[in-house]
Formats: sequence, structure tokens, C-alpha cells
Amino acid sequence: MASDTVPRGEHPPGPDGWERVQLLWDLFTNTDAPSEVVDGKTLAEYREEYGPVVRLETLVGDDVYFLTNPAQVEYVLETNARNFRKAESRVADLRVLFGDGVLTASGDDVARHRGAVASLVSTRTLDSFEDVVVEETEAKVRRWVRSDGATNVHSAAIGLVSDVLGRVVFGSDYEDCEDDVHESFELFEQVMPRVFSPVPTAPDWLPTPHNRTVERARSIFDDAVSRVVRKRRRNGNDHDDVLGAMLAADVDLTDAELRDQTRTLLIAGLVTAPALARALYALARYPDKLDALRASLPGRLDAREAGNEELSYCEQVVDETLRLYPPIPPAIREAIDDDTIGGYRVPAGSKLILSQLPIHRDPDLWEDPLAFHPERFADGWNDDRPRYSYFPFSGGPRTCVGGELARETLKLALATFVIDYDLELTDESRGREHAPFESQTFHVNVERRE
Ligand code: HEM
Repeated sequence: MASDTVPRGEHPPGPDGWERVQLLWDLFTNTDAPSEVVDGKTLAEYREEYGPVVRLETLVGDDVYFLTNPAQVEYVLETNARNFRKAESRVADLRVLFGDGVLTASGDDVARHRGAVASLVSTRTLDSFEDVVVEETEAKVRRWVRSDGATNVHSAAIGLVSDVLGRVVFGSDYEDCEDDVHESFELFEQVMPRVFSPVPTAPDWLPTPHNRTVERARSIFDDAVSRVVRKRRRNGNDHDDVLGAMLAADVDLTDAELRDQTRTLLIAGLVTAPALARALYALARYPDKLDALRASLPGRLDAREAGNEELSYCEQVVDETLRLYPPIPPAIREAIDDDTIGGYRVPAGSKLILSQLPIHRDPDLWEDPLAFHPERFADGWNDDRPRYSYFPFSGGPRTCVGGELARETLKLALATFVIDYDLELTDESRGREHAPFESQTFHVNVERRE
């Protein structure tokens, strides 16, 4: 049913009866559910059956709406963004990990927090950004070549991305806190699935094993940041890195907020790792694209030339990876006042799930949408496309603050890798179904090229 033919004020359709119960159960037990498959059906299939706005009546509490059409995503994230905030209950859970930083800010604090960091998280903040990515990639990839077996792509990517981000945020002081960052990240990784799961966690004052791990990870990380901040306040802050930029800008943040902000950037930025893992997975799975990428690159990479034409196909590989395998769970928003979306009534308090996957793979928007085809992102790809057909970094006032940094990191890391190394999926991983959301479990064999 076309959304503009719907009489204003009607509820959108959605599953009923047993199907509704199963969908609800899935939503509360399966963290991946909203992004890909719910109860064996994809969100695209729900769209096929019910239209671009699907309502899930929750029986208790506010209803959930799945939006699977670019126009409605644009409406929520941008056109009428002031009526849609991050869901409060969700933010409360995330605050346990991120504290009071830009990601958990709400109301008037959003502008203050975003003003404090958004423009500082940039490849231009760190003078030597390109060299940092190339150096870290070269150093790490050497260790991916293993005579004793296969490399887990996901862990390998985490190791690389966390050190790039560490150097972007802490600059040369990263050497002093690298061990603490690693130790705290290992602990954060253990608790992350629980924090991001839709099932609410126990209140943070209860000494559960989960809460104790979060507490320990935060204290290791925060002590390291405090140490660096004290050192810079004592010795002067002549540093071209994100922390230096925050201190120099004399931003309106307390010391505790500064620590939370730093932790937020590092943890939120880590999503670059599954993106890198998925790009490597795609190149291993589609060797013709790996060859095309290598052929497009110079024999040696001049990192400072990273923005030039030589990396344009590499950029297309990055864009296509983020289209076909978006690495982040769907954004969830909450309606502040009653609203109308696509002609349907959406009452205050409703939860809206904006999932990239069904839109990034919509055959009405993308030709042969399941193919990994970087060439589709050649110049002009966006000319006749509805906005929000592609939104890997979200959009509107809460858009990702690290998009540029992430894309440049991915581009440079991939180019550096591909020039000197080859990779192929292990027999075990090759035999598997096409399951991009399991990138944690994929293994590759990495070899240095002659
Ligand atoms: C490929 C890598 C990345 C992807 C796909 C990605 C994607 C996203 C998306 C979709 C959101 C919005 C979520 C929502 O609307 O609820 C977001 C928010 C955010 N991202 Fe990223 N991100 C990436 C890398 C980074 C990096 C490198 C950083 C920082 C170093 C970063 C920092 C943030 C922060 C702080 C927010 C919260 C912004 C706010 O709430 O106002 N991200 N990211």
C-alpha cells in the first residue's frame, strides 16, 4: 500500500497472533533481530507483507514500529528530528558503559557535547593520521601471517583499529596508556553483548559479575585518561590529537565528562573493526574484486596522497562493504509527541527501529542488491537516488561523529594490506552459508605476496 494513500491517523499494519508473540520474543532475546532476521523472516519480507511502516503491538508498554523506507527514515532522523530522541531506556543502559558523553547526551546537552567533540574527531586533527594508519597496518598484518593456522578476521581487525584510534585520541602519549587501553577493552568486549542486548541489565549498584566487570574496565580506562590529562596540564598541552584538541579548545566539559567523552570515542569508534573485518571477508569471498582493487592501486602507497584518485576504487570497496554489510545495529528512536509517519499515526512514546539492511538491499533502490559490486559507487552514484537509501553513519543531528575518520582508516588499511598481502577464506569458512553478521567467526589465511 503506498504510504501517501493511507488515510491520516490510521495505525499501520503488522503481525498478529502467534507471529506477533514470536516477533516480540525475538526482539527481546536476539540482539541481531532488528537488523536482519526476525523469526525467520527478514525485515524486507515484513515490508513486502505489510508495507514500509510495520507496527508491532507490544501488549504492555509502547508499540514498536519498523521503518524500511528512505523517506520515513529521513523524516525521523532529519526532517522532524526534534520530535524523535534516542529511546530513554536504551540510553540508560548505554550510560553504564559510555557515561555522560556525546553518545548518551539528551535534550539541551546534545548541542553542548556535540559542539565539544564533533569537529575535533577528524583526520585533520592528527597531523600524521595517514602515517599512523599505514604504520599500524604494516605492524599488525605481519602478525596475521600465521604458519600455525588461520587468522580470525574480527579479532585481527579489533587489534588494528583499537591502536589506530588510541593514537588518534592520545597521540604520542598512547605509549604510556596502551596496556591499560588493551586491558580495559578486553573487559569491555566481554560486557558489550549484554549492554547492547535489548534485555535490561541489573541496576549498576548491584555487585553482579557483569557490573563488576564494567566497573573494573571503566576504572582502568579512566585512570589512564586522568594520568594523561594531569601530565598535559602539568607539562603543557602541545599535542595534535583528539584529547589535545579537546583540552586546547577549553570545551565546556567537566573532568569526568572529558573521561566519558574519551571512552565514548574509543568504544564507539571500535565499530570500524567489524567494518574492516567485513571488507576483508568480502575481498576474500570475491577474489575478482580483490584483484580489481590491487590493480587500481599504485605499487607503493604514498599515505599522504590518500585523498587522491588512486584510492577511488578502494573507497568504493569501503562504501559497498558498508552498504551490503552495515556493521552497526539499527538506530532506535522514541517519539516525544504524537506524530504521523508515512500517513500513519504514531503515538508519543512509540519506539521506531530504523534498520539499514532492508533499505541498503532494497531491489527497488539497488540493482542486484545482494551482489558485492563496488563499481556501483563510482562517481554520480547518488545523483538520482532518494536520500537515506544509504545511511551507514545515520544522519541528522545525531549522525556519527567519526564517519570521515572511519572511512579514511578503512581505505588506508585496506590499501596497505592489499598491496603486500593476499588472503583467502579457510576451507571451513568458505563452506559456510553467506552469513555476514557472523564475521566474528570467519577465518582467513593471509600470505605475504612475492
Ligand atoms: C565504519 C565505522 C562506523 C560506523 C558504521 C558508524 C556508525 C554510526 C551510526 C549509525 C551512528 C548513529 C547511531 C544512532 O543514530 O543511534 C553513530 C554514532 C556515533 N559514532 Fe559512529 N560509526 C563508525 C565509526 C565511528 C568512529 C571512528 C567514531 C569516533 C572515533 C565514532 C563515534 C560515534 C559517536 C560518538 C556517535 C554518537 C553520536 C551522537 O549520538 O550524537 N563512530 N555511528
